[in-house]
Amino acid sequence: MALFQLDNIQKTFKHGTTSEQILQSIDLELTKGALTALTGASGSGKSTLLTIAAGLQETTEGTIRFEDKTLTAISAEQVREVRAKHFGFVFQQAHLVPFLTVKEQLELMLDTAELKWSKEKRRSRIKETLESVGMWSHRDSQPENLSGGEKQRVAIARSIIHEPKMLFADEPTASLDSKRSAEVMSLIQGLSKELDITVLMVTHDEDVLQYADRTVEMKDGKII
Ligand SMILES: Nc1ncnc2c1ncn2[C@@H]1O[C@H](COP(=O)(O)OP(=O)(O)OP(=O)(O)O)[C@@H](O)[C@H]1O
Ligand SMILES: [Mg+2]
Repeated sequence: MALFQLDNIQKTFKHGTTSEQILQSIDLELTKGALTALTGASGSGKSTLLTIAAGLQETTEGTIRFEDKTLTAISAEQVREVRAKHFGFVFQQAHLVPFLTVKEQLELMLDTAELKWSKEKRRSRIKETLESVGMWSHRDSQPENLSGGEKQRVAIARSIIHEPKMLFADEPTASLDSKRSAEVMSLIQGLSKELDITVLMVTHDEDVLQYADRTVEMKDGKII
């Protein structure tokens, strides 16, 4: 069953009087719990497709469905709500908030998701999530005292702390060496299986593809 579905997604950017079509009628279905890798040359439209799917930018044409909702038919405010509650994000850089401890990064995320969790549930969820990424012992550290791989593990913890159904990742291993990259990928894969999170991940890295259930390749704004 497709949890998430893209139909005829097209994206056109206007530059003054000219316009350029970056995505050409893309159809893509994501099966619940599967990890799909989106690959292809630089400039082929991977990040554009990912951010449109994740509701971070609007599509010019087409339909996006998530569960029983058509995201392209509801208001921006309603999309924002779905995104905050059900979607998680990981990018190439961890983008942690300076001066906040590891634990506070997660607390901030839970505030944003506006979940009605008890204090106890928040506390246990933060502990269990930091343990699952091996960062509980670093809970009181600030980002400047963490290595690149550790920061990325915190970013992953932050992306799943609110128990999202979808995880969107744009080259999550691009800033890591091959050992750290393998660690981060087994982590994402394990979390996806364990928590039944549906993952759409952009990657350039051939070594990363082995972690995916399915690989989709893009070329010139199309899926090939
Ligand atoms: N906001 C924008 N305005 C105009 N053009 C854009 C915009 N965003 C992306 N593009 C163009 O769309 C094309 C696809 O960009 P995109 O970032 O999706 O590629 P990508 O496959 O993620 O590439 P990379 O692997 O280098 O990250 C590029 O030609 C880019 O210049
Ligand atoms: Mg990109």
